[in-house]
Amino acid sequence: MTRILVTGGAGRLGRTLVAGLGAVGHELVSVDREISDAPELAGVEQVSADLADAAQAADVIERTRPDALIHLAAIAVPFSAPEDVIMRTNAGLAVSVLGAAAAAGVGRIVAASSPTVIGYGAPTGWAPDRLPIDEDTPARPWNAYGLSKLLIEQTIGMLRRQTGDGVRYAAFRPCYVIAPEEWEGAPTQQGHTVRERLDDPALSAPAVFNYVDARDVSAFADTLLAAMDDIPNGEVFFVGADDALAREPLSELIPRFHPGAARAAAELTGTAPAFSNAKARRLLGWRPQRTWREELATRESRHV
Ligand SMILES: NC(=O)c1ccc[n+]([C@@H]2O[C@H](COP(=O)([O-])OP(=O)(O)OC[C@H]3O[C@@H](n4cnc5c(N)ncnc54)[C@H](O)[C@@H]3O)[C@@H](O)[C@H]2O)c1
Repeated sequence: MTRILVTGGAGRLGRTLVAGLGAVGHELVSVDREISDAPELAGVEQVSADLADAAQAADVIERTRPDALIHLAAIAVPFSAPEDVIMRTNAGLAVSVLGAAAAAGVGRIVAASSPTVIGYGAPTGWAPDRLPIDEDTPARPWNAYGLSKLLIEQTIGMLRRQTGDGVRYAAFRPCYVIAPEEWEGAPTQQGHTVRERLDDPALSAPAVFNYVDARDVSAFADTLLAAMDDIPNGEVFFVGADDALAREPLSELIPRFHPGAARAAAELTGTAPAFSNAKARRLLGWRPQRTWREELATRESRHV
């Protein structure tokens, strides 16, 4: 059992992560701006703090004394706040939270980055050399959100150069997160339902049709925490489903919405996604268990 502090634990991904890691036997503490009455957090130790205040962040970590930290707290949606605010908030949170954890001697430190670091959808065009995107694809963010997430990954590198490998670090880039209730029709992060994203490919095109079930991210985090002593330090992982959130092959859809990526997309036949999860499979043995095909079908069969 590991005592895990999750920042942003009351959020879309945080709730499922806290519940999922608790269900497999870990001791969870959630820290967020306010105490949440979400059912997933019932019975979980919750702390209220503004983590943008470095003193509060340090105090929470000192008081809760976790073995591991998973840092999710952020402005999670591009352009949902002015660019300078997103930059300051996300990069500042990374320095205050991850820095405080390293200073307090937390042994395993994990931070949520984002696939947006890659820079798909740039207004001046996006022309990847090859698809699927993987961890070797160069990061070329084109907005403050993507850049702030790249800085979070870089903060981990910075701290590692301060502490050495006695502290274990990792970052992960979750694809478009689908929380369990969203299979039932609750709005997803961008406001549409999963089915609307499937029915109108223009909705899912900006994220290049990526997605992942939040419960699969929880299983990924559990697997990652268990493996961190044994894998290279400071690794970054894409965490995505085995298929694309699309009814047509991406070799047909991508040329319609990302013309500069048409040549590279020819590889993406069948149900193949644009983001590879092969590194997490290879280094950790993690594989996503859910696909929209089964999750939506299960829901439909429950409602007939
Ligand atoms: N949801 C996705 O599809 C997705 C995809 C890629 C990356 N991510 C990343 O995963 C993480 C979680 O995303 P989410 O969708 O759950 O976001 P969310 O907005 O639902 O949750 C973020 C949580 O962080 C908290 N928070 C923000 N600033 C804080 C502060 N100063 N002090 C304390 N708490 C604060 C918020 O109150 C919120 O509960 C984020 O870092 C996000 O950038 C999410």
